[in-house]
Amino acid sequence: MPEKYTPGYSSNATNFMANRTVDSHVAFFTPDLCPGMKLLDCGCGPGTIALGLARAIAPGTVTGIDREAAQISIAAENAINQAVGNTHFQEANFYALPFLDNSFDAVFFHVLFEHLH
Ligand SMILES: C[S@@+](CC[C@H](N)C(=O)[O-])C[C@H]1O[C@@H](n2cnc3c(N)ncnc32)[C@H](O)[C@@H]1O
Repeated sequence: MPEKYTPGYSSNATNFMANRTVDSHVAFFTPDLCPGMKLLDCGCGPGTIALGLARAIAPGTVTGIDREAAQISIAAENAINQAVGNTHFQEANFYALPFLDNSFDAVFFHVLFEHLH
């Protein structure tokens, strides 16, 4: 049975997530970032954190995945609007990641695990 994602995808919920940035929520991770890294952001939602990570590791790349196609569309639109080119967003499930082993230097997730069985 598919998991229920409790917060849902209303504009209120999405806008709440979209207010998150690397500066506001990800200070714990930034000391580990280096230019040129390849990162995976799992459960990226509207992608505002992924965009900040992409700026920090440019010219490296951030791939953001989310199980919800609409979130991926919003993240891709945010990347265009913020002129962040070193990102790629795709629909994917954390339980079956469509990447080969060793595709990334680091894997990041923020506020994902509490939504998984
Ligand atoms: C609380 S939001 C966090 C979004 C973003 N990481 C942040 O911190 O603002 C959790 C996101 O994880 C996604 N998600 C939940 N279960 C997932 C799964 N099994 N695979 C991929 N994404 C999942 C949801 O669709 C949602 O966009």
